[in-house]
Amino acid sequence: LYLMPADSPHPLLSLADYERAACEILDPAALSYIAGGATDEVTLRDNVAAWRRLALRPRMLVGVGRRDPSVELLGVRRPHPLLIAPTAFQRLAHRDGEIATARAAAATSTIICLSTFATTTPEALAEAVPDAPRWFQLYVFSDRGVSRDLVARAVEHGYEALVVTVDVPVAGVRERELRAGVRSLHGEQLASAAAAGASGEMTPADFGELVDPDLSWDDIERFVAESPLPVLVKGILTAEDALLAVAHGASGVIVSNHGGRQLDTVLSGADALPAIVEAAADQLDVLVDGGIRRGTDVVKALALGARAVLIGRPILCGLAVDGAQGAQRVIEILLAELDNALALAGSPQASNLDATFVMPAPWPDRSR
Ligand SMILES: Cc1cc2nc3c(=O)[nH]c(=O)nc-3n(C[C@H](O)[C@H](O)[C@H](O)COP(=O)(O)O)c2cc1C
Repeated sequence: LYLMPADSPHPLLSLADYERAACEILDPAALSYIAGGATDEVTLRDNVAAWRRLALRPRMLVGVGRRDPSVELLGVRRPHPLLIAPTAFQRLAHRDGEIATARAAAATSTIICLSTFATTTPEALAEAVPDAPRWFQLYVFSDRGVSRDLVARAVEHGYEALVVTVDVPVAGVRERELRAGVRSLHGEQLASAAAAGASGEMTPADFGELVDPDLSWDDIERFVAESPLPVLVKGILTAEDALLAVAHGASGVIVSNHGGRQLDTVLSGADALPAIVEAAADQLDVLVDGGIRRGTDVVKALALGARAVLIGRPILCGLAVDGAQGAQRVIEILLAELDNALALAGSPQASNLDATFVMPAPWPDRSR
């Protein structure tokens, strides 16, 4: 069923296999940037553990011979609920960077969300891989002119939604990166950031300082008013903020703690999701990310009311192992696992999952 990359001695069957293989390939500095989280990495670990604290409640004899993973997202039917999370500096994982990721996206009908801190401009990606369904992730710079220009270019080049990331008013404290002495790329190599003043050799934290720490809900409302694209707010963890996103005109929220890279000991997306869905899912689309590593995690996220999920690090591990093909395999593995889980959980249609399919796990949490 699963193909083995030509140069690999072991078949890579799961996302965990790709993670292990990437750990062997990546240089220590790049690995610390990709795999690490903030300070003690409590939230980083809990993001994975939180999905495992949920048990599935499968239904039998419902007829699962025909399965349909499609979901409705921003009013559009999508073939499946996976998206590629925005991650910066993808050329640290593989020389082909975001272009390779876009090829994987196009091959699997997966939306790629391009980071403001990508090593490819929005127009270069659109020209190189026009078939990739794409959203643009915006870090809002203090210089609003630069941010408006980025949005205009995304609109012009076929990006279908704008994801404004709001959980980086300042960079998180990443001790793993500091110990490994991580340097990302030269500021000039990131065209989008260079316009906001990036230059010379910079650390990820230096890039973080370009982001406006005083971004507010009024800014969100302005982007909603000015942009023809639907606006999603990424980095929401409370029902209070989800309701503010509704009040300021957002079309969606991405429940996320930035992969455990910002404020350590915040709650996981899995734990934040139910209250946010209850408060706001009837008024906007709720998506979730963080620690999704198995098809069963996707089923649980949908059961709790998410419309779709974003995958961060596993894509970078796939890229590191085998470029575009590796990223594509990672998505295909997750899609195969999702299909299997839908059948065995007795919910052949992904969009029919609901909260009756999950319960708090009766087994002890051994994650700590
Ligand atoms: C190496 C790396 C870089 C990231 N860069 C960005 C970014 O530029 N913009 C953004 O909104 N989120 C960024 N994120 C957060 C991801 O979009 C996403 O929220 C997170 O990685 C999901 O968790 P997962 O990696 O456990 O799947 C980054 C995450 C990682 C691991």
